[in-house]
Amino acid sequence: MKFLTIAASLAVATLSAVSALPVNMNAFQPRALTCPADVLSCTSASAGLDGCCVPSMGLILLVQQWYNGLGPADEFTIHGLWPDTCSGGQGPATGCDAARVYSDIDTRLRNYPAAPAGFMDELNTYWSSYKGDNNAFWSHEWSKHGTCVSTLAPSCSGSSYVQDQDVFNYFQTTLALRKQYNLYSVLSGAGINPGSTPDSDDMHTAIKAAYGVDAQINCASGVLSEIWLFFKVNSAGAYVPVEALTPGSCNGNISYPAKSGSVVPTSSIKPSSTTTRASATSTSTATSTAIPTGLPEGRQYGACSTNGATVCVKNGSSNQYSKCVSGTWILNQCKSGLVCYSDTVTSTHCA
Ligand SMILES: *[C@@H]1O[C@H](CO)[C@@H](O)[C@H](O)[C@H]1NC(C)=O
Ligand SMILES: *[C@@H]1O[C@H](CO)[C@@H](O)[C@H](O)[C@H]1NC(C)=O
Repeated sequence: MKFLTIAASLAVATLSAVSALPVNMNAFQPRALTCPADVLSCTSASAGLDGCCVPSMGLILLVQQWYNGLGPADEFTIHGLWPDTCSGGQGPATGCDAARVYSDIDTRLRNYPAAPAGFMDELNTYWSSYKGDNNAFWSHEWSKHGTCVSTLAPSCSGSSYVQDQDVFNYFQTTLALRKQYNLYSVLSGAGINPGSTPDSDDMHTAIKAAYGVDAQINCASGVLSEIWLFFKVNSAGAYVPVEALTPGSCNGNISYPAKSGSVVPTSSIKPSSTTTRASATSTSTATSTAIPTGLPEGRQYGACSTNGATVCVKNGSSNQYSKCVSGTWILNQCKSGLVCYSDTVTSTHCA
């Protein structure tokens, strides 16, 4: 605590000493005021530069996965955003800052005041865990990898640091990169679609044509599992794609399986008249009333009154369900291979 106070006052002193300079607060990349413009991580110009200017682990990997049961059928989902050393070495397994190892990322993000509407839905949809516990997955990715993004260190923002802005920026940046580097579209644009056995060389060619650099494409037992895109980061916070260090483990024709059954593209799910039914039936009089049209289903939005209540997005055919957490509906999903079944107006099970 004493150390933090000293660090904070040093940061304030540094800021006031250079207060005549224009402040460049990039939402993705809080940067020190004294950083040189346009320096790229992992280049000779970045050697010895302050870790607040460019990431000191300056090779950053966007890892997208292709996993049946996760996300929309026509999108890759996120595994993580991983800082590596410039030669491709991994960071410490326990992360880079023990003081910011967290196990409650879901709560921290939901409570972050500047998170845009729909942020948690986007995270739940595109960064979901095949084990079914998104908070545990996010907490692991943040603690092991997010704490190693040196530019996000609270001390880089000095007195303007807001609690959990480092956490928020890490997840926001990763979501934005996934959206920008949409591998499904790139492959599909080259005629490579799920449900086929494409030549992995053709996948490399398609990605290189789209981004100017190749990716690492990984398989598990000949089935596409992950695609890793490599970036360097410049001192303005921009992620610049660079060549993958290795082509990955896929060889020749591989399986690019269709995601089956459990996936409902979120764009096709609209708020429906069932929106408030689950919360409206939380009183004892309501639960004793027969519901002639069957149990509620459909994605739920906005406020809810029964914490812990769950409603299937589509009974018996989608793995997704809405869950009432701290007064707000969030999208969650069953473990891979399971789908959601409605039990009562406010409870479901995965099977
Ligand atoms: C292997 O991939 C090529 C190119 O994508 C494709 O034309 C061919 O049909 C594939 N072979 C098999 C056995 O799927
Ligand atoms: C949910 O789906 C299951 C299996 O498809 C079905 O047996 C059950 O009646 C459905 N429940 C409701 C409330 O529609």
